[in-house]
Amino acid sequence: MAVEVLTTADGRAKTALSRRHAETWFAARAAGRDLPVGHAAPPPRPARPDLPRLLDPRDVPRRRPGTAPGRLAILHAVAHIELNAVDLHWDIIARFTDVKMPIGFYDDWVKSADEESKHFNLVCDCLEEKGSHYGALDAHAGMWRAAEDTAEDFMGRLAVVPMVLEARGLDVTPGMIDLFQNAGEDRTVDALKVIYAEEVGHVAYGSKWFHFLCGRHEMDPKDAFHDLVRRYFHGGLKPPFNEEKRAEAGLPPDFYWPLADRKTGS
Ligand SMILES: [Fe+2]
Ligand SMILES: [Fe+2]
Repeated sequence: MAVEVLTTADGRAKTALSRRHAETWFAARAAGRDLPVGHAAPPPRPARPDLPRLLDPRDVPRRRPGTAPGRLAILHAVAHIELNAVDLHWDIIARFTDVKMPIGFYDDWVKSADEESKHFNLVCDCLEEKGSHYGALDAHAGMWRAAEDTAEDFMGRLAVVPMVLEARGLDVTPGMIDLFQNAGEDRTVDALKVIYAEEVGHVAYGSKWFHFLCGRHEMDPKDAFHDLVRRYFHGGLKPPFNEEKRAEAGLPPDFYWPLADRKTGS
């Protein structure tokens, strides 16, 4: 099921399949007939539509958030992030099945993948209401790098994807909500509020299973996190941090502050 999602290119088709597979998974769980966790080979990179064009981050034009085209560009970037997140969650499900995990691990990532699929569709609906669509603008090419860098390292994947990248979403989303609120774009505000509420869970799942694996291997979670982020994440973490939501998601300050980029910092 995961590989089927990863090898579907079109965004709406990918997310529809993702939601259908999540429903099947949870229906089986509820009926007491859990689906077996098998083995499959996820592709090195997920299938993606021909558009958007994927550019080096340096070549993606800078956005001016004070203008309508600037806000549209931000929304397009969010759609791109959500689609990437759908693939990231199905990829962690398929890629590390050699490591025996409790079934709750799969519940958490199937649920996350389902939510990312909903997020992508909500944001696409907003883009389409504005007469645009996902693919109309260029997008960052670097999004899959974290997955490639940690393709062989399960704990590295948990450290970098949910606990660094998705935690960063908690830092920046309130500002985005304010921006669209001030512009009177209510539909987008509603979509971002759904995203903000549900992303706390994804970070929490990352922290939960990272701590689980640290416990299994008798490792100190904070030291292990620092080592893995320094190995796989390029550049420091950018303050200001949303300390309250990070705490809610099981990320204490001594995990991220020592990795902060002091140049941009507070
Ligand atoms: Fe999301
Ligand atoms: Fe997420």
